[in-house]
Amino acid sequence: MTDRKLLERAAEAMANAYAPYSRFPVGAALECEDGSVFTGCNVENCALGCTMCAESVAVGNAVSHGHTDFVRLAVFTRGTGYRYPCGECRQVLNEFAPNLEILIGRADGRYVSYHLDDLLPNPFNSSQLE
Ligand code: THU
Repeated sequence: MTDRKLLERAAEAMANAYAPYSRFPVGAALECEDGSVFTGCNVENCALGCTMCAESVAVGNAVSHGHTDFVRLAVFTRGTGYRYPCGECRQVLNEFAPNLEILIGRADGRYVSYHLDDLLPNPFNSSQLE
């Protein structure tokens, strides 16, 4: 799948965002090794701390379908700037794919690409639990 197609999937997921409090819809599309794609959108709550981010929802969607072999993530917001995954989502993604490719797309169709280990250097991981 092309980068643009994956970003398109994220934009489609953004359309389902439940974001009445921030009015900041986010969509995410997570591609797995076999080419399957699992999407997510942010799901807000009137108890604001209960809000779920689009990226973490996409991870939950993939894992609940038996997929943890993530290769690429597209995140889409409708603003004019690039919006990066929050720290908590970086940690959630790191659990499964420390070198995940992350595409960040914006409304005008431009996008930038990173790897998770650039956005989350020296992560806490399971090898540190001993
Ligand atoms: N949000 C995400 O979905 N992903 C992020 O990585 C950052 C923030 C959502 C949460 C909330 O619904 C809205 O964006 C504003 O913070």
